[in-house]
Parts: sequence; C-alpha cells; structure tokens
Amino acid sequence: MHTISEYRDEFIAYLDSMRITKEPRNLYEPITYILGLGGKRLRPVLVLMTAEIFNTDFRKALDAAVAVEVFHNFSLVHDDIMDDAPVRRGKTTVHEKWDINTGILSGDAMLIMAYQLFENYEPNVFRDLAKLFSKTALEVCEGQQYDVDFETRDDVMLPEYLKMIEYKTAVLVAAALKMGAIVAGEPDEAQQQMYNFGLNLGIAFQLQDDYLDVFGDPKTFGKQVGGDIIENKKTYLYLKALNSGSEVIAKELEHLYSIHPKEAEAKINAVRSIFEKTKADQATKTAIADYTAKAFDVLDDMDINPENKELLRQFGENLMNRTV
Ligand code: IPE
Ligand code: IPE
Ligand code: MG
Ligand code: MG
Ligand code: MG
Repeated sequence: MHTISEYRDEFIAYLDSMRITKEPRNLYEPITYILGLGGKRLRPVLVLMTAEIFNTDFRKALDAAVAVEVFHNFSLVHDDIMDDAPVRRGKTTVHEKWDINTGILSGDAMLIMAYQLFENYEPNVFRDLAKLFSKTALEVCEGQQYDVDFETRDDVMLPEYLKMIEYKTAVLVAAALKMGAIVAGEPDEAQQQMYNFGLNLGIAFQLQDDYLDVFGDPKTFGKQVGGDIIENKKTYLYLKALNSGSEVIAKELEHLYSIHPKEAEAKINAVRSIFEKTKADQATKTAIADYTAKAFDVLDDMDINPENKELLRQFGENLMNRTV
C-alpha cells in the first residue's frame, strides 16, 4: 500500500503524461486548463487505493482513475455554467475565461474522453466499468436537474434534498470505490460494500461542501463564498433554518431566497446570520458526522485487513475536517 499523497502524485504524473492539448486548440486547451488547476483529486485516489486494498497493482487502475477525474472535471465545467460561478480552484472558470459555448463543447469532449479510457481494459472489465459509469453519469445529470429545479421551488423537503445530493455527488464517489474493486476482479458483494461506503461518505462530502460554501474562508476556499446563497440553492443549511420553529425567521428567509439583488453582500450576510441564529450550522455539522459514521459502519463490516480499513477511515476523517 501507499500513502494518500503518493497515490495523488502517481495519478498526477500519469495524467500529465497524457498531453491532451492538440488542434483545435479552443477545444482542448480549456480541458488541459481545468484538469491542471488541480483540486483535491479525491476520486482518482479512491480508485487507486481500492484496487490495492484488493491486492491489485494500482497501475492497473490508472486509466479508470483518470476517467473518473475527467468526468468529475467535465461536470464542474458544466456546473459552473449552470451555477453562474466565476471562480473554481482559485482561478477563473472555463466559461468566463473563454465563453459558454467553449464550456459546453470542451465539457462534452471530456465526457467522451472519460469513456474512451475504459477501452484500455479487457472486455469483461470494460463492460462492468462502462455499465457502472453510464448509470452513474445519468444519475449525476438527474441530481443536477433537481438541484436547478429546487432553486425556484419553495416547498423542497429534506428527503428530496438528500436524494438530490446523493445523485449529483455521492454516486460518483461511490462509483470511484467500486471501480477499484472491479479492476481488481472482486466479486459483487465486495464491490457493493465499497459502493455503500462511498455513498455515505459522498453525502457527508456534499453536506460539507454546502457548509463551506457559506462558512469557508474566501482566501483559501477556491470558490466564491456565498455562491449557493446568491443562487437560492436549497441546501441542508437552508432547510434546517427554515424548519427551526420561528415563523418570523422562516418568512424572512423565504423572502431572501426569492430575490436576486445585484449587490449580493447584504443578502449573504443576512442569510449567514440566520443560519447561525437557528443553529442550522450546527445541525449541518452533526449531519456530516452522522453520515461519516454511517460510512464507517459499512467499513467495519468489510472483509479487508485492518490497516486498509484504517486507511479508508483516515480518508473519511480528513474529508470531514477539510476547509477546501
Ligand atoms: C466539487 O468537488 C464538486 C462537488 C461535488 C462538491 P471537489 O470538492 O472534489 O472539487 P475539487 O476537484 O477538489 O476541486
Ligand atoms: C456540484 O455541486 C455537483 C456536480 C458538479 C455534479 P455544487 O454546485 O455544489 O459544486 P461546487 O460547489 O460548484 O463545486
Ligand atoms: Mg456549483
Ligand atoms: Mg451546482
Ligand atoms: Mg457547492
């Protein structure tokens, strides 16, 4: 086994060796740009780590790892268009640096490139990877559609929100772990356990993303803090604050989430203080810990050696305590 940072370094070296940019430049340069901005590389690390947990050389999993990361970055390029986001990983988003059409087409190309990487596997593994990937990618689209639909709805319920984040975010984390198991030739049950671990971890991950969107440090977060508030995203924080018991606060919050002021600072500050006053911030922290604990319960039941369990547990702990 290797450390998390070794897997990350190996992954980056492999990705860099691919030299994606060619003609037409306006198609491929944005792809090299977004992939080069870095990010945490969580999903590819999970693919590599899982393969080795199941006694398979991580190098066999590198193409699947790149596929997951390229898909993830594709989803971010399109997500930033949909969320009207100016900044990603501390840099200008693709659609603002180039334009929306570039973001759409370079994103499309990335989705196809991700699939192409599975061609490097022998037929049985190819089929299993492609099948999982298609299901996952479609669910991500469904999650993204719900996310957008919820912006203009004022009757979103907590279970709907949880389904939405499961689809837009958690299924890809789950799929990354399952891909490692597929490449290692593990039976269905082991694949499924890894998937379930990732699903709970992924839900905790998106809850934390929502939390950081409001309470993250603008200097280090790498995205526009308050972006979800500007876009009237119905997050866990919002739903908890809305149902905190005060009719007056609920009315104020509903009003704030029905407007799109040109200058957003006052709205962001007002919403942030409601989240604090209603302890929606604390409730979100609790939910993050609960879903992480659920993931660890799944981990406890897995038939893998204790050091590897510890590695996955460490990974989960790090996610819960992250600031980026
Ligand atoms: C951002 O994912 C999108 C979500 C699903 C929350 P990450 O937080 O993994 O983004 P990077 O790749 O590290 O930038
Ligand atoms: C992202 O959700 C989910 C996908 C990209 C599929 P967000 O919209 O919360 O992600 P960030 O915060 O922009 O990274
Ligand atoms: Mg977004
Ligand atoms: Mg979004
Ligand atoms: Mg977010």
